[in-house]
Amino acid sequence: MENKAIEISEIEFGYYKDQTIFSNLSLDVNVGEYVCVIGHNGSGKSTLAKLLVGLNEVRKGEIKIFGQVLNEENIYSLRKKIGIVFQNPDNQFIGSTVRDDIAFGLENACVKHEDMEEIIHEYAKKVNMEEFLDKEPGNLSGGQKQRVAIAGTLAMNPSLLIMDESTSMLDPKGKREIRELTNMLRQENKKLTIISITHDIDEALQADRVIVINQGEVVLNDKPEVVFKNEEKLKEVKLDIPFSYKLNQVLNKNNIKVDSVDFEGLVKELCQ
Ligand SMILES: Nc1ncnc2c1ncn2[C@@H]1O[C@H](COP(=O)(O)OP(=O)(O)OP(=O)(O)O)[C@@H](O)[C@H]1O
Ligand SMILES: [Mg+2]
Repeated sequence: MENKAIEISEIEFGYYKDQTIFSNLSLDVNVGEYVCVIGHNGSGKSTLAKLLVGLNEVRKGEIKIFGQVLNEENIYSLRKKIGIVFQNPDNQFIGSTVRDDIAFGLENACVKHEDMEEIIHEYAKKVNMEEFLDKEPGNLSGGQKQRVAIAGTLAMNPSLLIMDESTSMLDPKGKREIRELTNMLRQENKKLTIISITHDIDEALQADRVIVINQGEVVLNDKPEVVFKNEEKLKEVKLDIPFSYKLNQVLNKNNIKVDSVDFEGLVKELCQ
């Protein structure tokens, strides 16, 4: 029985002939895993997300989703299992109202018409957008658009959820709420696999695994506490370490003994 959601084997990809974004990338993600992908601008994160949903084709190597090699024939059936929230929510809206937009995704996921209204309300409520259901998506604020895009994708009940900086325009409270929402969905469905591409180091701290990408290559791939201890490597690829780690370092440097303090918990409390 397959327990891998994603198997990327030695892929090569560029958008055009003389460009190479990935020269030999391999990566696995287990079913039920929550993986954060971090890396500075232009490192290939969104390109990877697009390859995973078959929007672009690899030049070499292969991508397996739930055990099936992604190809032109199975892409449509596989996409039914994948929910993707793109980096720019404007690219994601099709309906003339928020309600239509969420409904469109549900139609594609073959949800029965009589069940739709309830699901639409349920998910709009989860992201605090219930009162906007009759509004035009184009007229919403950036953060509101992201909330709608997230609601539409989650409502489709995907097995694999790919979020490409999908909370980048939300305020800290909004980010936290979406994180709580995805955590709750994971509790409900232990097989839900999440790949979250993010610049939010504090989100990455919560993941099962953090993958650091730099210039199309995986430079770190481990549990968050291992990745964020590798300060040297992170600096090399121009990434920051979490605030809780920095605070710990500063206190240690000043000989303040703080070994028993739970820094992540402390910072979380302070930021509430
Ligand atoms: N449609 C495209 N055609 C050609 N080149 C592209 C295209 N989209 C992205 N690129 C290039 O591919 C590289 C990787 O881009 P990508 O969007 O995957 O980066 P990213 O890691 O998502 O960055 P960011 O953090 O800014 O979102 C960049 O050098 C970018 O300029
Ligand atoms: Mg991107």
